[in-house]
Amino acid sequence: MSRVALVTGGSRGIGAAISVALKAAGYKVAANYAGNDEKALAFKQETGIPVYKWDVSSYQACVEGIAKVEADLGPVDILVNNAGITRDAMFHKMTPEQWGEVINTNLTGLFNMTHPLWSGMRDRGFGRIINISSINGQKGQMGQANYSAAKAGDLGFTKALAQEGAAKGITVNAICPGYIGTEMVRAVPEKVLNERIIPQIPVGRLGEPEEVARCVVFLASDDAGFITGSTISANGGQYFA
Ligand SMILES: NC(=O)c1ccc[n+]([C@@H]2O[C@H](COP(=O)([O-])OP(=O)(O)OC[C@H]3O[C@@H](n4cnc5c(N)ncnc54)[C@H](OP(=O)(O)O)[C@@H]3O)[C@@H](O)[C@H]2O)c1
Repeated sequence: MSRVALVTGGSRGIGAAISVALKAAGYKVAANYAGNDEKALAFKQETGIPVYKWDVSSYQACVEGIAKVEADLGPVDILVNNAGITRDAMFHKMTPEQWGEVINTNLTGLFNMTHPLWSGMRDRGFGRIINISSINGQKGQMGQANYSAAKAGDLGFTKALAQEGAAKGITVNAICPGYIGTEMVRAVPEKVLNERIIPQIPVGRLGEPEEVARCVVFLASDDAGFITGSTISANGGQYFA
C-alpha cells in the first residue's frame, strides 16, 4: 500500500512542486494551504491532489486538519513542513506583529504539525519529517531578522528531533533552498533580482521548485534511511554551510 505524504503549503510554489513530485513517485498526497482558495482549487483540479485548508500557526487547527487527512487517506508517513511566509523589515522598523507572524508560522508551525503526528510514527516504526528551511536561516539576511531566526530554529529542531526519532525508524532532515523562482521571490523588484540577487548565485540563475522537490522525494524514500539530522543546501553554490 502506498505511503501517505502531507505537504504544508502544498498548493503553491515550492510546496506544489513537492506535492506533484511525491504523487509521481507513488505516494498518496495531501496538500495543506492557508487561505488562497482560488489557487488551491485550481491546483486540485489540475493535479487531482486533495487540498485541506488550515493555519499551521494554530496547534488546534493542525490537530483537526491532520485528523481529516488521516480519515481520508490513512496515517501520515511523510510530513513535509514547507508552509512559510515573509514579513520583511529592517529591525529598527520591525513590529512585534511582523516578528510574531513569522515565528508562529515558520517555526512554531513545525511543532504544531509534527507533534500530533509523532506518536503515530513512533508506534508504526516509520516516519519521514522533511523541513523546508532556507539559506537565510544558515547565513542570516538583513531585513529578515524574524525569518532568519525562524529558519535557523528549524535547523535546531531538525537536529534535536532526528536524535529522538532515529531508534524508531523516523528520519528528520532539512532542506535549505537558496533563491527559487516562486511568487515569494518574484515579488522582489526585478531590478533587485537582476542586479543584486542573481549575481550572488554562482550558477547564474534562480533555482526551480522542482529542484527542491527532487531532494524531498529522495529524503522521503527508503534509500535515504541512513540520512537523518542533515541539511541539504540547494542554493546554486551561493553559500556553503
Ligand atoms: N522561494 C524561495 O526562494 C525560498 C527560498 C528559501 C526557502 N523558501 C521556503 O520554502 C517554503 C515555500 O516557499 P514558496 O516560495 O513556495 O512560498 P509561496 O509561493 O508563498 O507559497 C507558500 C505556501 O505556504 C502556504 N502557507 C503560508 N502560510 C501558511 C499557514 N499559516 N498555514 C498553512 N499554509 C500556509 C500558502 O498557502 P496559501 O496559498 O493559502 O497562501 C502557500 O501554499 C517556505 O517555507 C519558504 O520560506 C523559499
